Amino acid sequence: HKRVAILVSGGGSNMVSLVDSMTGDHPARPCLVLSNDALAGGLKKAAGRGIPTAAVDHRPFKGDRAAFEAELLKPLQDAKPDIVCLAGFMRVLTGDFVSRFQGRMLNIHPSLLPKYKGLHTHARAIEAGDADHGCTVHEVTAALDDGPILGQARVHIEAGDTPEDLAARVLLWEHKLYPAVLRRFAEGNKTPVLLP
Ligand code: GAR
Repeated sequence: HKRVAILVSGGGSNMVSLVDSMTGDHPARPCLVLSNDALAGGLKKAAGRGIPTAAVDHRPFKGDRAAFEAELLKPLQDAKPDIVCLAGFMRVLTGDFVSRFQGRMLNIHPSLLPKYKGLHTHARAIEAGDADHGCTVHEVTAALDDGPILGQARVHIEAGDTPEDLAARVLLWEHKLYPAVLRRFAEGNKTPVLLP
């Protein structure tokens, strides 16, 4: 099996969807769930599923990204992942870190990239009056929320949607999209997955 490490910062619902997909004839298995926050809900969910976990708190590094990443790299390298999935990981990674996993690091982002890189994507899509919004899985490169697109799911914006309403609907599609992309990617296929 291909070994998959998953990086989370929060509740880890995308991590759970990935982990729960890696059974049976799936070509990959989880090897580590890693967080920048020891209290991230995702760590408990992973441990409860029998997956090794680790945490490296970014806060003591006070913005020294290189020093933080040097610590983050230790458990990650020990886990010897073939594929690294960012799943709600909310720290920006440097080009130096990313280059170590070039071509085998994926991220899910809650917008139809290249629209709305960065934060507050749902509010920005509503504010712009867009008809559609959604989520994207892409290969991670040194540039933020950039890199080859491996899949997208489109969600219609309804009249009266709040950012929270929209985020909740997009998240349901994230849980379908990310496992579909990971499976295809682990099989060596980079053809984009387009949902629904
Ligand atoms: C997801 O909506 C994910 O797309 C987003 O954070 C949420 C994490 O939820 N990621 C980003 O905004 C990355 N910049 P989860 O912890 O339940 O998977």
